[in-house]
Amino acid sequence: MRRPLVRALARPLVLATAAVAIPLMNAAPAASDTIVVGGFPIDVSQSPWTVALSSRDRFGGTRSGQFCGGVVVAPTAVLTAAHCVGEDVLGAPANEVRDFKVIAGRTDLYSDAGREIAVSDTWVNPEYDRYSNSGDFAVLILAEPLPETSVIGAAGAGDTAYEAGTEATVYGWGDTTGYGSYPRSLRAARVHVLADSRCERAYPGGPEGTYDARTMLCAGEIGGGRDACQGDSGGPLVARGRLIGLVSWGSGCARAGSPGVYTRLSDVLRVLGGTARLGGAAGPSGGR
Ligand code: ARG
Repeated sequence: MRRPLVRALARPLVLATAAVAIPLMNAAPAASDTIVVGGFPIDVSQSPWTVALSSRDRFGGTRSGQFCGGVVVAPTAVLTAAHCVGEDVLGAPANEVRDFKVIAGRTDLYSDAGREIAVSDTWVNPEYDRYSNSGDFAVLILAEPLPETSVIGAAGAGDTAYEAGTEATVYGWGDTTGYGSYPRSLRAARVHVLADSRCERAYPGGPEGTYDARTMLCAGEIGGGRDACQGDSGGPLVARGRLIGLVSWGSGCARAGSPGVYTRLSDVLRVLGGTARLGGAAGPSGGR
């Protein structure tokens, strides 16, 4: 039984019953080839772990109520950005938002494809710092499970997928221009993992945030042009078939010299208890 996360939880029983584990992937699986500014359209079947967070009450029904992205890391667990589930965004504590849902399998937000699943519990990283943006992640527990085939494994600490120069893909339904053009359908963009020094130089401490390589990851293109943007937050950054980041923040979108900043997945795993187990009920081989 893993204790660290359980100890940190406000409502341990609720999460313990979820008993989910984030699979770690150390071998390279088939690259899933398959926003976002400078991107391309993609069908969600190519990245079934990419989900939309929705509240029609709060954000209107036109685009299925989409306001952030998320990533399926276990059949009943979705990772997103902590700043997506703040009271300032949702208008109330996340656990009080009645129509807070995760939408899986819906490429076109104007359609009713896929499934809408209620969020039964929201757990925000207690180390999240809204001023620096450090530790920007939250775990959403789903009321019903998604299939294993929707789950993506995370890259553990030291995984080569985190190396500067690695090609990565970011997915989302966010702004495609940086000027408020929200697409109907899912998009993806190819970016590269950048050296931490680039983001340290770009974000030494300012109104947007302060780059901290321990909890954040820097990705984009040296000359700009391809990036995540508003509305993509919480969504996945995937390299070598493994989840390495969650869209978190940046200065503008796709600007040269202002790369995208992502929540570093290896730090998420550290907070969740090293072996990435969420909840305590998983047995010895528990949930893998
Ligand atoms: N904070 C934004 C959101 O809530 C994501 C911004 C990402 N920006 C970037 N340039 N990569 O959707």
